[in-house]
Amino acid sequence: MKDLEATLILALKSAKHYLTGGDLEKLCSASRKAIVSTIESLLERGYRIEEVPGEGYRLLETPHSLDGSDLKTLMRTSKLGCEILVFRRVGSTNDVAIELARSGSPEGTLVVAEEQTRGRGRLGRSWFSPPGTGLWFSIVLKPSLKAEDVVTVSLAVALGVAEVLRKSYSIPAELKWPNDVVVGARKICGILTEGDFVEGHIESVVVGVGINVLNEPDDFPPRLRDVATSIRIETGVSPSRSQVLTDILEGVEKRYLELCEKGFPSLRHDILKLSGLIGKLITVETAASKIVGLAHDIDRDGALVVRLENGTHQRIIAGEVSRLL
Ligand code: BTN
Repeated sequence: MKDLEATLILALKSAKHYLTGGDLEKLCSASRKAIVSTIESLLERGYRIEEVPGEGYRLLETPHSLDGSDLKTLMRTSKLGCEILVFRRVGSTNDVAIELARSGSPEGTLVVAEEQTRGRGRLGRSWFSPPGTGLWFSIVLKPSLKAEDVVTVSLAVALGVAEVLRKSYSIPAELKWPNDVVVGARKICGILTEGDFVEGHIESVVVGVGINVLNEPDDFPPRLRDVATSIRIETGVSPSRSQVLTDILEGVEKRYLELCEKGFPSLRHDILKLSGLIGKLITVETAASKIVGLAHDIDRDGALVVRLENGTHQRIIAGEVSRLL
């Protein structure tokens, strides 16, 4: 049923004129009854489809809310989004994706939610995920990598997101190791990577991505107003979230496949280029300590290398980084 929906929407989107019921039957290889009931279900979900007697059907508008069939028609990826689940409301898309990964869902499965009631951030924080403004989604990945390389997956995804924001939306996005995408001092995208490991290898990893798209400054709670931004705030335009999602998935897929095929060193140069931290004075809080130093490098394994005051270098594989200057 879902594939008929996607085919029908695509046919209506591609048509220059009205399409008759007969045209749709042929284009979708479906019966008239199936076409009529699919159109009824699309109308109920917010699609605006005009029907003119003697002419046929015309698509006037797709819904503002996220819709799985519409996403399928926009998707230009080969792997990511091979299966798409869209929820109106869910606790956390990462929790759903982790369950799906454990029960055998294929690599590329995408879980998207209009709203999360228990959106999670890194280090046990909550992630503000109201309906209608942002993109909250998780992707199931199954790379052949060692457990300690999981940070390179986060970096590859963050690079893909930042590049799309720069190229397609003209936003000067930068990376903040290990997995934030920022514009100046404000965060536009956060990434939460959670893996299942077997004998030192990644069995599956769920990459959860939260991107602020349509938020105005007042849409953020006061605690986030000075530290968060959105595509709308940065550009003054309000792109469709479905379009942003499909653009981002395309960029992320490119970098993820590169990581799988060529390894992290192939991405490292571009990651360093977009890393706003390198050369800056930072603090890093790890589970064990807090250090201050100059962000010096991101090494061939994806670790952050910090130059300490005494001239020595320390490799950081996990931690919370803040810029001091
Ligand atoms: C962070 O910056 O702390 C990471 C934020 C990650 C948020 C996303 S939204 C989709 C996915 N589901 C979650 O519960 N969290 C991630």
